[in-house]
Amino acid sequence: MSVSVIVGCQWGDEGKGKIIDIMASRAQVVVRSSGGNNAGHTVVHGNEVYKLHLIPSGILYKDSLCLIGSGVVVDPKVIIEEIDNLESRNVSCDNLRIDARADIIFPWHIAIDKLSEIAKAKKTGTNIGTTGRGIGPCYVDKADRIGIRLYDLIHPEILKTKIYETGELKNEIITKIYDEEPLDLDAIYAEYKLYGEKLKKYVDDVSVLTYNAIKSGKQVLFEGAQATLLDIDFGTYPYVTSSHPIAGGACVGIGVGPKVIDEVIGVAKAYTTRVGNGPFPTELFDKTGDYIRDKGGEFGTTTGRPRRTGWFDAVIMRHAVRINGLTSLAINKFDTLSGLPKLKVCTKYQLEDGTELEDFPVTLEELAKCSPIYEEIEGFDGDISSCKNFDELPSKCKAYINRLEQLCGCPISIIGVGPGRDQIIERKV
Ligand code: GDP
Ligand code: IMO
Ligand code: MG
Repeated sequence: MSVSVIVGCQWGDEGKGKIIDIMASRAQVVVRSSGGNNAGHTVVHGNEVYKLHLIPSGILYKDSLCLIGSGVVVDPKVIIEEIDNLESRNVSCDNLRIDARADIIFPWHIAIDKLSEIAKAKKTGTNIGTTGRGIGPCYVDKADRIGIRLYDLIHPEILKTKIYETGELKNEIITKIYDEEPLDLDAIYAEYKLYGEKLKKYVDDVSVLTYNAIKSGKQVLFEGAQATLLDIDFGTYPYVTSSHPIAGGACVGIGVGPKVIDEVIGVAKAYTTRVGNGPFPTELFDKTGDYIRDKGGEFGTTTGRPRRTGWFDAVIMRHAVRINGLTSLAINKFDTLSGLPKLKVCTKYQLEDGTELEDFPVTLEELAKCSPIYEEIEGFDGDISSCKNFDELPSKCKAYINRLEQLCGCPISIIGVGPGRDQIIERKV
């Protein structure tokens, strides 16, 4: 038996999809536990590029059982499109199962997500910069215990009652608070009833399926979406998502106990990126930031927004090591940094009075008072994208990797040198 959890260490888009896809070749089951189609996970196979939002990145292996746990919020339209799209490319989704408890995203969630962002920006001059997919409002309803779940979606009579009960409430908010037109609940019912019919065959109890797979000795991967600094408690609140993308959240979002986990792999980039608003201590606003964005193709997989770019931040990484109990790191995109004469790494933060901080501050107010302390490291040159083992890397690249490992306090077991399945270097830890 072996259960591995894969989580993002920074603000998302670290290349989790690629790492899951690689590890899925050695696993039988892949389970998503949180978030929804705010996620965008890219898997590259030769010339084929797959962008997955809800379906676990193990789907490309025909024998992998791919599960979506109860902690995920599911937009049925998006998942049906994703299934259709994969099947049109000869990727079977017969092995997909979704927990009956998963909350469903409705048009009012998407409307309220967008309207509240506009209202926040109008009132305060800024907003969260959400993906606009209705994620936050759907989790709000779940916590308020008025959510409509997948089980309800596949039972038309229950669905009808709940759509009118909740939908009327939401229309009050849309018309009276935001002064917008109400949503057509008859049309929503007709549309969602059809989604229920299409999704019926995938509905199951993911807690039971996962538990049984673990008990029968299967290799299981828990696929994280989002990342540590987007966690609703331990991220840069309020500039976060509305779920727990950290390792502890995986057990809750799937329905298994923490003792089943054998290893926790944190995925990061060799630098830092962020989409959406909020603090970013090592952000670059200069030519180096543009170089990284252009060379690394740093544009959102879900929304296409340009990603903000910055230097590697070891304070953030130590936060991720602690919060998730990381046993090793997979760090991607070293190839992107090739060609830069000097690399910088943030080792600590400094307060205005000169005090040095090793740990990530608790509040944004404290974080605002911090500036990064940098260590400068020699850059490296050349195309490293076909390197197959650590010794083949340029010595300056190896020195950079070794220094990151020391500063993070966690072994780096996977080094990413390109987007492809075979573009990693594995090291024994
Ligand atoms: P995820 O959300 O964590 O799965 O990451 P995304 O798919 O949103 O973004 C990661 C991007 O980096 C994708 O375009 C990947 O194909 C790409 N990628 C992953 N690892 C590497 C790497 O080592 N080098 C390069 N150049 N690209 C990578
Ligand atoms: P993956 O799994 C990067 C960010 C949004 C915004 C904040 C809240 O691909 O790494 P939300 O729509 O969740 O309410 O938005 O969270 N965000 C992500 N950023 N990668 C993601 O997922 C993200 N999921 C949410 O940009 O700042
Ligand atoms: Mg992504």
